[in-house]
Order: sequence, then structure tokens, then C-alpha cells
Amino acid sequence: MSKVTFFTERTETPPAQTYPPGTIVIRAGGRAVDIQKSLQVREAVFVGEQNVPLELERDEYDADALHILAIDTDTNEPVGTARIVDKGNGVAKIGRVAVLSAFRGMGVGDALMNAVIETARTLKFAAMVLDAQLPVIAFYERFGFVAEGEIFLDAGIEHRRMTRPVR
Ligand SMILES: CC(C)(COP(=O)(O)OP(=O)(O)OC[C@H]1O[C@@H](n2cnc3c(N)ncnc32)[C@H](O)[C@@H]1OP(=O)(O)O)[C@@H](O)C(=O)NCCC(=O)NCCS
Repeated sequence: MSKVTFFTERTETPPAQTYPPGTIVIRAGGRAVDIQKSLQVREAVFVGEQNVPLELERDEYDADALHILAIDTDTNEPVGTARIVDKGNGVAKIGRVAVLSAFRGMGVGDALMNAVIETARTLKFAAMVLDAQLPVIAFYERFGFVAEGEIFLDAGIEHRRMTRPVR
């Protein structure tokens, strides 16, 4: 894909429209509508690439989470995802950030994180937390997240907790 253009759609059922070739749409706000598409990406990345057991990859938070999707409008297929879980007390837990390997390095992860932060702001969360795999800490630092505490294992993978005020 030579040219990637990003649009953000805020409605669950966006109006039908034609996009220029190579357009990736970031859709924030889809819940039931988007969970299957989100799982499609997560299973390819976390289960397929990282060997996370399927039963750990899906969890009880998915039903109420806000799912953010990157969709390749050339194929109408999902290529990236992230989710926001309301942990109470103004805290948003960001997780399941994933981009299909063929679409990495094009700015999709960046666009997803910007949509996550914008959405957390719109929903008036005060703070964001996430559990970062160690090789991805530097990716989240680019968005102002700061690592804290000890390394811990989740699904057999080393992680550190990171936090950021929403502001
Ligand atoms: C981490 C991930 C989401 C990044 O997605 P991506 O679409 O490749 O990221 P982008 O193309 O938007 O990259 C944006 C910037 O972040 C940088 N970046 C990407 N991955 C990085 C990493 N692991 N560490 C540091 N910087 C990183 C890129 O170099 C780029 O910087 P630049 O604009 O200065 O060139 C993707 O690599 C992925 O899905 N990995 C596997 C799943 C995973 O580990 N998820 C995180 C679980 S905690």
C-alpha cells in the first residue's frame, strides 16, 4: 500500500461513502458492531503470532469495552484494533493494541493510539493505564505513557504497567 490516508468515524453506522484507494478508516465507538472484527485482528496477532491461548485472549471485559478499529477500505477488512475498558474512578484501561503484521510501520498503530486518547478525552476519563509488553514500552512512551513498578507475567509474556493522565 503506497499511500495511507486516515479518517476517523465516530458513529457506529457510518454513512456509506467512497474512499480514495489506500484509505484506512479509524472507527472509534463501535461496540457490538465491531467486536468480531476486533477479535479477528487480535487472534491473528496475539494467538497466531504470540501464541497466547485463545481462552486468555478473549475475556469478560470485551462485552462492555469500547473497541477501536482500523479498517482498510480497499477490502473492508480490519487491520488494527485497540480497546478501552472503564475501570471506574475515572480510569480507562487501554489494551489489546494490535496491528496486522502486513500493515505495521505505516502509522496505523499511531492512528489507533491517537484515537484511543481522543476517545478517553471525549468520555472524560482522568487517567489511562495499560500493561505494555517490554518491547513495546518505547512505542507507548511516544504518547506520554510512563512505565512504573515491576515486570510481571501475563499469558507468559513480560509486561510493565504504564500510566498517563488524559488531559
Ligand atoms: C506495537 C504495534 C501496535 C505498532 O503498530 P504500527 O502500526 O507498526 O506502528 P506505527 O507504524 O504507527 O508506528 C508509529 C511509530 O512508533 C514506532 N514504533 C512502532 N513499534 C515500536 C516499538 N515496538 N517500539 C518503539 N517504537 C515503535 C514506529 O517506528 C513509528 O515511529 P516513527 O513515526 O518515528 O517512524 C504493532 O507493532 C503490533 O501490533 N505489535 C504486535 C502486538 C503487540 O505487541 N501489541 C502491544 C501489546 S502491549
